Amino acid sequence: TRTAAVIPAAGRGVRLGPGAPKALRALNGTPMLIHAVRAMAASRAVSLVVVVAPPDGAPEVKNLLDTHALPERTDYRVVPGGETRQESVRLGLEALPDDITAVLVHDAARPLVPVDTVDAVVEAVRDGAVAVVPAVPLADTVKQVEPREKGEAEPVLATPDRATLRAVQTPQGFDRDTLVRAHATVTDNVTDDASMVEQLGEPVVVVPGHEEAFKVTRPLDLVLAEAVLARRRA
Ligand code: C5P
Repeated sequence: TRTAAVIPAAGRGVRLGPGAPKALRALNGTPMLIHAVRAMAASRAVSLVVVVAPPDGAPEVKNLLDTHALPERTDYRVVPGGETRQESVRLGLEALPDDITAVLVHDAARPLVPVDTVDAVVEAVRDGAVAVVPAVPLADTVKQVEPREKGEAEPVLATPDRATLRAVQTPQGFDRDTLVRAHATVTDNVTDDASMVEQLGEPVVVVPGHEEAFKVTRPLDLVLAEAVLARRRA
């Protein structure tokens, strides 16, 4: 198996507030994207990292990667992204060399995923799973509601049994051909890659995720991410 990681990093990060594209914002002085690339490169299984940059930001992102230290054994490429996360991932897949047989897809917005989690996903793919997602149990109870305008009270429709729910993270790992087929076949708007493979009728399995693989989405997440980094250095 030769494994590559595709990192979609083309999002604006609107929920984080005004400023640079989310992936380029600094965490303790280093762009979030660089943390995410290093998190993938930390796994010895990953030989290539493909970063999907904001559509007009590929030269800037290439320059960032050229000027930040990465392990010697890790190759990297930068391609411009698209309008949606899905399109960005597809553009990343198109940049993979022929000899890559397994692919990790990792959000730039999850810069702190520990290497053990990355390795667990890679190992499950190597053991024959076509799609693997790291996930954690939920702390909150989840309600299904009838969505209403912002600020309006929303009727509750159901409360799924929390014990059977998982919050899904990245990197998600795939057999390359299966993921390419999913991206060629599924056109509905989805929020993760594994759900596209589910739509093909292929099995998807969950391995344990990690609390530090949380997604940096809102301003409070930046505070938490910097605290995690400070604790790692201590
Ligand atoms: O917006 P959200 O946090 O769900 O984005 C998840 C990941 O997808 C982020 O790393 C973001 O940069 C990426 N993305 C992308 N292209 C888009 C939209 C999001 O690569 N058009």
